[in-house]
Amino acid sequence: MPSIAHLQTLLLLALATFVLAAPRQTQQKRSFVVERIPNPAFKGRTPGAGTRALIKAYRKYGVALPEGLVDAMNSANAGSTANALTNSLADLTGATDDKAKKEKAKGNKAGTASAAANSTTSATNATAGTGVVAATPEQGDVEYLAPISIGGQTMVMDFDSGSSDLWVFNTQLATASQTGHTNFNPQKSTSFKLMQGATFSISYGDGSGAAGNVGTDTVNIGGATVTSQAIELATAVSTSFVQDTQSNGLVGLAFSKLNTVKPTAQKTFFDNAMPSLAMPVFTADLRKASVGAYTFGAIDSTRFNGSLSWAAVNTTNGFWQFSSSKFAVGTGATMTVAGGQAIADTGTTLMLANAAIVNAYYSQVTGAVNNATVGGVTFPCNANLPDLAVDVGGNYMATVRGDDINFAAVDATGQTCFGGLQAIQSDLQIYGDIMFKSQFVAFNGGNNSIGMAAHQS
Ligand SMILES: *[C@@H]1O[C@H](CO)[C@@H](O)[C@H](O)[C@H]1NC(C)=O
Ligand SMILES: *[C@@H]1O[C@H](CO)[C@@H](O)[C@H](O)[C@H]1NC(C)=O
Ligand SMILES: *[C@@H]1O[C@H](CO)[C@@H](O)[C@H](O)[C@H]1NC(C)=O
Ligand SMILES: *[C@@H]1O[C@H](CO)[C@@H](O)[C@H](O)[C@H]1NC(C)=O
Ligand SMILES: *[C@@H]1O[C@H](CO)[C@@H](O)[C@H](O)[C@H]1NC(C)=O
Ligand SMILES: *[C@@H]1O[C@H](CO)[C@@H](O)[C@H](O)[C@H]1NC(C)=O
Repeated sequence: MPSIAHLQTLLLLALATFVLAAPRQTQQKRSFVVERIPNPAFKGRTPGAGTRALIKAYRKYGVALPEGLVDAMNSANAGSTANALTNSLADLTGATDDKAKKEKAKGNKAGTASAAANSTTSATNATAGTGVVAATPEQGDVEYLAPISIGGQTMVMDFDSGSSDLWVFNTQLATASQTGHTNFNPQKSTSFKLMQGATFSISYGDGSGAAGNVGTDTVNIGGATVTSQAIELATAVSTSFVQDTQSNGLVGLAFSKLNTVKPTAQKTFFDNAMPSLAMPVFTADLRKASVGAYTFGAIDSTRFNGSLSWAAVNTTNGFWQFSSSKFAVGTGATMTVAGGQAIADTGTTLMLANAAIVNAYYSQVTGAVNNATVGGVTFPCNANLPDLAVDVGGNYMATVRGDDINFAAVDATGQTCFGGLQAIQSDLQIYGDIMFKSQFVAFNGGNNSIGMAAHQS
């Protein structure tokens, strides 16, 4: 077991290998790398999920991969990660081998059925101006999926508060790319209208992404309805999306300025729905290994403890961004991170924070190491993890439970676990699903603010 000094040396060495890169804040995308291990819901059965989640987040925000992560990616142990990461733009049609296709087809049935079933069983009846859908975690909480209806066709989608395009798998895609997915068929929708000449393209440094044409249709999310929502129909998607058969597209919920439709950027579902919502809000109630909900137009106070604390959102970058310049580990003293900013991103699996926070946190965890094999901090799965409190907007310290920071085992033996908290070498911290599991979050588009309260434990 390394001493704290040793740990810090390791972390410093690792940090020295980071290559600084300005975050690309105008081109957002998801870059899924999908787990193919059966029974993924348990810790100990998600080998590689942590490394993949970390790589995905770095790629999403255009941060260069640290050397350790590149090694991890190339190691035999993370073979499927390496495959997914070698995808390039040339690969956008997403053809894959037959074996993989069969696995995908299998996975899809289960995933679609469960998310859809949960939406009907656990959604409460929407009153006028509200909508509620179940948010179901998939693949060991790597992503949270929820059903939406487009022109009457139900699609299970990934809701992403870190991007602003609503794009779907659909019948224009090459057959190989459609395999295993639910594909929207515009010809079977009586309300679909093609938007002549409009195209979209979400791409990223590594070339993963989606591109295609655009139409409008009626979108209903748990009872909240928009009759002329821009639906972006992919004609090309990167292999990582093809492989993620649980998800059939993204519902972007960041600010509309990030939308990529050309020649005219389109509004997000939330922006379109807002005037008819009972309240100009949507909320994310994401749970560890269990079903939560996305709600539009209402704040359901039974979903959190106490009252919400509100923070002003800085919309300059198009994200749900707030100041976050203090933190505390366990019962320790509050420490400062000068000028810290963070975004609340449901579409990122992990919590990526300033290295000072990550260092201070793991210095309190016995056996925590910056593990080059998997490219991030790991610790013994039975480690006692302290809570982490982070500043949200200056007047609220959001507690992320230690238990939620234990993300997933790195291999099938279940001895070593990957940290849900990892460092990001960027001015913008990304508070992803690890934070959401501990905190109920309300996104208020009426006064551009974000409200948080701890989940009931
Ligand atoms: C769906 O909801 C039921 C009841 O809430 C739950 O038991 C089940 O595990 C959920 N399914 C998934 C895939 O989360
Ligand atoms: C929703 O409303 C219907 C009809 O009013 C009722 O039968 C059903 O039990 C309600 N479901 C929930 C979850 O409240
Ligand atoms: C925004 O609105 C909420 C609820 O409507 C209110 O409680 C909060 O104080 C407002 N926040 C800001 C930053 O204005
Ligand atoms: C908002 O964010 C932008 C970009 O990060 C920054 O330049 C600006 O100073 C911020 N505004 C406030 C009021 O913090
Ligand atoms: C680093 O991760 C590997 C899994 O790839 C694990 O076997 C090993 O025990 C970890 N090292 C430490 C010191 O925890
Ligand atoms: C709600 O918060 C209070 C005060 O922080 C705490 O004592 C209580 O245990 C919490 N209740 C639940 C159900 O989590």
